[in-house]
Amino acid sequence: MSLDLKTDPAAPPATTPEYETLLDLVKFRMSVRNLKPDPIPDDYVTKVLEVARWAMSGANSQPWEFVVVKDAAKRRQLYDTYMNENMEFIYWMERQRALELRHPAFQVPGVTDPHKELKIIQDKQNWYDAPVHIVVLGDGRRQWGTVQGAHTFGRAQTHLWDGLANASQLIHLAAASLGLGAQWVTIHIPEAFHKILDVPDLLTFYLIIPLGWPAVARRPGWRRELDEIVHHDHYNRDLYMTNEQAYEWLFRLRGATIPKYKSSEVDVSAQEEAARDK
Ligand SMILES: Cc1cc2nc3c(=O)[nH]c(=O)nc-3n(C[C@H](O)[C@H](O)[C@H](O)COP(=O)(O)O)c2cc1C
Repeated sequence: MSLDLKTDPAAPPATTPEYETLLDLVKFRMSVRNLKPDPIPDDYVTKVLEVARWAMSGANSQPWEFVVVKDAAKRRQLYDTYMNENMEFIYWMERQRALELRHPAFQVPGVTDPHKELKIIQDKQNWYDAPVHIVVLGDGRRQWGTVQGAHTFGRAQTHLWDGLANASQLIHLAAASLGLGAQWVTIHIPEAFHKILDVPDLLTFYLIIPLGWPAVARRPGWRRELDEIVHHDHYNRDLYMTNEQAYEWLFRLRGATIPKYKSSEVDVSAQEEAARDK
């Protein structure tokens, strides 16, 4: 089916079926951090990547490439490397914050032994077992196609990452549209991952997206309301946060997102209970 969206500018409809479908889909999609090991159709992976390749990118430079990892040993290696290098690194940085302000994945109330805590945090994720990992790579040379100003030294060179983020977002949406779950696994320390998949050094190892059937129920997400984020004709200074409000915002954010986070992960409550300081 091809879309035939000719609305009348003089009398535009209140909405269109396409808009409603899109809104439903973006609200339905959620990060799924507990995926079943059962296989997914190869054709679904192709369908997901077919959507991804239509992402926007600076000058249409299309900096992305995707590695579809199905090999169980390689998936395990990706996971173990993530846990031992990324997760361990992020954990010790998160420990520098008050418990209630840490990222939701790094809060284990009542467990003060850091090694026990880290183990519980790691066990909340089981994505090595997800049947497919899509690895998103970027080739910065393709961004030579965009305006030179985007590469000016001393200015943020964001076009590569913006393009990769757009493609990754579409992967998540396409997965949700097929009933699949997906997780965004940020890579903070990429070097070791290159070796696992023989990725050339010059390429950016951007992201791992485990794909599979969700093992958790969908539940509604949380976002700031439009009247908090939209300005009309000029910046509304009433919406501008003081530094103190920015600090308080973190508490509000954590309060709103921690329940959703917990429900998207592997349930480790028994393990948490056993490790809790008595
Ligand atoms: C730049 C970026 C980095 C993210 N990193 C991670 C990550 O490393 N691990 C993870 O489980 N989710 C990660 N996420 C997913 C967010 O936590 C998630 O999108 C957010 O909490 C909203 O929840 P939802 O996706 O369920 O709507 C990331 C998302 C983005 C866009």
